[in-house]
Amino acid sequence: MSPTATPVRRQLATPPVPASPFPYNSGSLLSVLDLSLDGLSQLLARATALENQDPLLRDRILAKRRVALLFYESSTRTRTSFELAAKGLGADTTLVSSLSSSIEKGESLKDTGLTLRALGTEAIILRHNSSGAPWLLEESTHLPVLNAGDGMHEHPTQALLDLRTILAHLRAGTGEVNAGTLAGVTVAIVGDILHSRVARSNMLLLPRLGARVLLCGPKELLPEQAAQMGPGIAIERDFDAALGQSQVIMMLRIQAERLAGLQLDLEDYKANYQLTGQRLAAHAPQALVLHPGPIIRGMEVTAGVADGPQSAILEQVRNGVAIRMAVVERALAADRQGGRA
Ligand code: NCD
Repeated sequence: MSPTATPVRRQLATPPVPASPFPYNSGSLLSVLDLSLDGLSQLLARATALENQDPLLRDRILAKRRVALLFYESSTRTRTSFELAAKGLGADTTLVSSLSSSIEKGESLKDTGLTLRALGTEAIILRHNSSGAPWLLEESTHLPVLNAGDGMHEHPTQALLDLRTILAHLRAGTGEVNAGTLAGVTVAIVGDILHSRVARSNMLLLPRLGARVLLCGPKELLPEQAAQMGPGIAIERDFDAALGQSQVIMMLRIQAERLAGLQLDLEDYKANYQLTGQRLAAHAPQALVLHPGPIIRGMEVTAGVADGPQSAILEQVRNGVAIRMAVVERALAADRQGGRA
């Protein structure tokens, strides 16, 4: 090389992040509050249409579009159903989990997101142990981000699949919803409300359709202030009394990984809050039993209840695929149309 020649500087492959015209990406689903009632109706109708569509036609909808699943916490149902949903629409998916990726080496959420973007990813499905992480990822990448659970904050697609299950069972249809669709319906949410993002998303969603949400659990897992989260929410500490008022009973796992030193007397907890066959028969023989999973049999529910005729737990799982197809489609469609549902 001659002493005057300047070295050729290689252009970095990563394109700069363009400025976003929206405060949040229009295809993102970070919170259940991102959806208007019209947007919710459209999404529910789309889930049904996609579920009923011929799989060979359906997989052209997002053919070869790139979707990444970025998981910092363990997951079975949410991860698998998001992946099957995206693949069912023809998208290419890739999974990055905190174990076995450069996250273990200390790479930040922002840099991981930008790396996925440089690889051609068009939407990111994120599960993270910190509340608010999906907002940060969206801000750093300007890609549509789908919140698959952020810390103790929200889990919007779980609330949507719970809603689809409730609507199907109460014969309220699975399409158009309005502020009165669940009028007269009481949904009990029972157990570890404090640490549950599923409870929070449902508390923000169900009252908007007219449902009454009755929270039930011990003081350590259900602080009094929870009832102030919004309209239509009340606390009933007596489990049998809560069962007696409810058409839907949503049982929750104790989030052992988030207890942070909190000591619970589990025998006492089971005596007061375990859903047993006897309790169900005595106080809510017609009610629908839901659980987001994973179930800890013999703790919050007995095996008999989990497998019993009132349980819709596996239907919830199945509904997850239809709902997530609609959510993934919305994420990538908004890219082209601009608007926010
Ligand atoms: C829940 C979660 O991860 O928030 N599960 C789920 O996504 N279906 C509830 C839980 O972990 O107990």
